[in-house]
Amino acid sequence: MTFIRPRRNRKNNASRSLMRENILTTNDLIAPLFVIDGKDEMVEVSSMPGIFRYSRDKLLKEVKELDELGIKCVSLFPALDDSLKDKYATESKNPDGLLQKTIKDIKNAFPDMLIMTDVAMDPYSSDGHDGLVSDNGEILNDETLDILVEMSLNQARAGSDIIGPSDMMDGRVGAIRKALESEGFSNTQIMSYTAKYASSFYGPFRDALDSAPKSGDKKTYQMDFHNVTEAIREIKCDEAEGADILMVKPGISYLDVIKEMKSHTSLPIAAYNVSGEYAMVKAASEKGWIDGDAVAYEMLVSFKRAGADMILSYFSKEIAKTLR
Ligand code: PBG
Repeated sequence: MTFIRPRRNRKNNASRSLMRENILTTNDLIAPLFVIDGKDEMVEVSSMPGIFRYSRDKLLKEVKELDELGIKCVSLFPALDDSLKDKYATESKNPDGLLQKTIKDIKNAFPDMLIMTDVAMDPYSSDGHDGLVSDNGEILNDETLDILVEMSLNQARAGSDIIGPSDMMDGRVGAIRKALESEGFSNTQIMSYTAKYASSFYGPFRDALDSAPKSGDKKTYQMDFHNVTEAIREIKCDEAEGADILMVKPGISYLDVIKEMKSHTSLPIAAYNVSGEYAMVKAASEKGWIDGDAVAYEMLVSFKRAGADMILSYFSKEIAKTLR
């Protein structure tokens, strides 16, 4: 006969509330958004039910709803026409580009909404790679840095609050930080995609932006998913180079990486609950095999339990509604 009964503390809702170790609030959520050219357009991403590519006017309405729901930060991804893509991602330097106009729209209407912007060549590149591709198919590191620096400055000048290098080139955080400081953007944060793995979970995102690599894969720059110690090495680089926030991506299959990284840094950790994770939940939910809303909430809480301080998730809006 035992007197030790862990079930005592779970006996009712009030007691469970007292015991609760981790909570999820809208303060933890960042909503990724896809923007397209045009007017009054909303095109659903077929592999991401409920997620749309918005023209700027429609996107503003979406941001308004997110703002009213208590979401504090959006992460913007431009989906560009193929005619604007080239080898050098030249469009990323356009001060009047789609992304720049969108940043200004949002800043005008919602000055308190934090805007994060992604830095990598793929949405602008005819090769669909995050870096510059040489004639023999190599991804050129140092040549890419110059392009990423220009891209970052163009985003910061338009008003981006958080620069998010997702490219995994060596030295990019340092190069971007130096350029931001020298142009007076000392308050522009860098959320580095510190441990970004070469993952098959990004498929639906590449559908959304039509940005899949035209040849080869991303394994020479994104991390090998068999590894975790390597993430500590990436932390050291990003800390020394001046990152403000460190990200792990993908999320759900990488909770161990979040936990490991949290114990090796005093910087805040972000987790990216990526497109493939969203798609899996939606697909199973549409089939009636799982309760999609409940599973999404459970997933997001698991990020908090693992030690994430903030979460980028396509579920942000839905979950913010249920948290209300
Ligand atoms: C671009 C980028 C990718 C994602 C975010 N930024 C795709 C990739 O690296 O191929 C993936 C996001 C998602 O799957 O939700 N470098």
